[in-house]
Amino acid sequence: MPIVCEPDGSTARRLVAGFREHGRTVADLKTLEQMLAADPDELIVVFGPGAPLEAVLSFAAARRFTRPSLGVVLVRTALEVNTLAQAMRAGIREVVPDRDFPALMEACKRCWEVSSRLRAAEQAQLPEGGAAGPGKDGTVVVLFAGKGGCGKSMVSTNLAVALARRERQVCLVDLDLAFGDVGIMLQLSPQRTIVDAVPMGQNMDQTGVRSLLVRHESGVHAVLAPVAPGDAEKITGRLVTDLLAVLRQMFDVVIVDTPSQFSETVLAALDAADRHLLLAGPEVTALKALRVTLDMLDLLGYPAAGRKILLNRADVRAGLSRSDIDRVAGRPVNVRIPSSSDIPASINKGVPLALSHPGHQVSRAIEEVADLVLGEERRPPGRLRRRGGLRRAKAGR
Ligand SMILES: Nc1ncnc2c1ncn2[C@@H]1O[C@H](COP(=O)(O)OP(=O)(O)O)[C@@H](O)[C@H]1O
Ligand SMILES: [Mg+2]
Repeated sequence: MPIVCEPDGSTARRLVAGFREHGRTVADLKTLEQMLAADPDELIVVFGPGAPLEAVLSFAAARRFTRPSLGVVLVRTALEVNTLAQAMRAGIREVVPDRDFPALMEACKRCWEVSSRLRAAEQAQLPEGGAAGPGKDGTVVVLFAGKGGCGKSMVSTNLAVALARRERQVCLVDLDLAFGDVGIMLQLSPQRTIVDAVPMGQNMDQTGVRSLLVRHESGVHAVLAPVAPGDAEKITGRLVTDLLAVLRQMFDVVIVDTPSQFSETVLAALDAADRHLLLAGPEVTALKALRVTLDMLDLLGYPAAGRKILLNRADVRAGLSRSDIDRVAGRPVNVRIPSSSDIPASINKGVPLALSHPGHQVSRAIEEVADLVLGEERRPPGRLRRRGGLRRAKAGR
């Protein structure tokens, strides 16, 4: 289904006519970008004679790296040597004269053959497993904080990227089902989300789960939070249990970002986890939430050995000493993440600091978190299984 980008309506209709019902038209590059973001399987864009050359060249040059499978075909009224050279440099695959239908069709066909192979190669980068082999037995890490705004999403996105930089196959699951930020923080379009797992019911397998994944340029795969209101309620604890069981067969590390309450889905993730990373900030309220969280986890019977405590904005002087904080936590803080105005800036840009600035002091702290995740005591005695059946009793299961 090629997309024809051409500002003049009648020219656009004339160009798209050759593709019969398979083509789509857009008038400008902004709409084109939106359409492409929503459809990662689109393989061909045809720019009509009215599309501004400069904008087309920079569009093509950028896509060459971010979406190499996309084939760009340029239609021009006159074929000038200069334009051809510029087009070639920008990675435009074909330039054809306007009003030459056979030439356009041939160009699109050649383009499609190259693009579909490149797309298949891109998809082959998705981790394999399932029927082909026993699969992995990856580590599941849940980030949790009893108080919102502690930096769970910031840490989980940066941690995912940092682990991918270490050549690990990483999946980031956004369980903040109502207000998930992972999609925005990584600039991923939610064309697939966790809600697409609902129809799979009890039959979740690697093929199905693969169809939920959205890939980030860093190599991280994500299962995004739903976007439509009301979809969050469709996700059950059982679905999360099944999803994480399959994901751990496919990835080295599965990172779970959470909302700030012990919901049924969060409890399912805590149950499946090998590690609980607990976040707090240097304010009394965040520390109180940490204390309550620790008590709750104790009550639920999770062994303390699987917990790590991260103090975010650790350098902010808020009248609390290091020992005050360690006392509330009941143990020394494992990693201290500094405060930095570069963090909100990186979130607004949608590029994690661990990707854009690996040497940044925040990225270095994230590296320490990555060390913890991959650490030698990766799986404490008997995985992080609860001793009691407290939650089950409470939930009446
Ligand atoms: N170390 C930090 N320094 C400065 N700002 C931070 C830091 N960590 C988080 N923030 C900011 O705090 C806000 C909340 O972070 P977020 O990761 O969304 O928290 P959570 O997911 O726990 O609710 C974000 O706007 C982010 O920019
Ligand atoms: Mg969040």
